[in-house]
Amino acid sequence: MICILITKRLLPTFNIIKPRRLSSKAEFNNVVECPSYFHLSNSFIDFPNEAKHLIDCMHIQYDFIDEDQEKSLFDEADPFIKRLRYQVDHWDDAIHQYRETEKLKWNPENTKIINKVRELAFPRHVGQIKYVHILDLDKDGYIKPHIDAVRFCGDTIAGLSLLSDSIMRLVNEQNKSLYGDILLKRRSLYVMKGTARFDYTHEILANEKSIFKGETIVKNRRISIICRNEPDPKYMGI
Ligand code: OGA
Ligand code: MN
Repeated sequence: MICILITKRLLPTFNIIKPRRLSSKAEFNNVVECPSYFHLSNSFIDFPNEAKHLIDCMHIQYDFIDEDQEKSLFDEADPFIKRLRYQVDHWDDAIHQYRETEKLKWNPENTKIINKVRELAFPRHVGQIKYVHILDLDKDGYIKPHIDAVRFCGDTIAGLSLLSDSIMRLVNEQNKSLYGDILLKRRSLYVMKGTARFDYTHEILANEKSIFKGETIVKNRRISIICRNEPDPKYMGI
């Protein structure tokens, strides 16, 4: 009995765990391996686990396609998209100076590329939206911060960037000082899932704000080719 009481009394003093606070950027860099395409805000210094989580949920692959494949996708998408006019604002005010369409059938070469995206982004059992979203942003176009509606889209969004580099910014919805900029190079693929898809807004910065690690990134006309999976049934019909 005495033994138990003593142990109980002693335990708290032995077991005090302090929250992990990293005081310097150098210490943060030792703990969090940040890929060169990512630039995280300084506020992440106090949230290293959030930082790791975000990085893990945002897969980027540069040169996912080569120049010929980029041209092949562009040649097939452009005739559809150029029939449309650039719109100043999106119906939910998320996109500025853009035009968009959805495409089901692609030629054999482009089908191969899109299947490669799908295989990398989605596990086999996952139901995918068959239509591919084509979004054309004018040189002066940009995408405002938003989270894709859970009613229309599942937990993963995969996007190929054609024609231009751009910067995608992810901002934590709960704490806006936690944000990460990603340099989306022309011909790169991103796969956004989990916390990056649900807990952070994403946006494509306008040219005036398009600065990555101090370097201006000129955004020209950019076309993205986006694949998504089916929404979780629990959100359908909301
Ligand atoms: C969207 C979107 C990002 C992109 O259409 O909802 O966020 O890469 N697009 O164009
Ligand atoms: Mn989106």
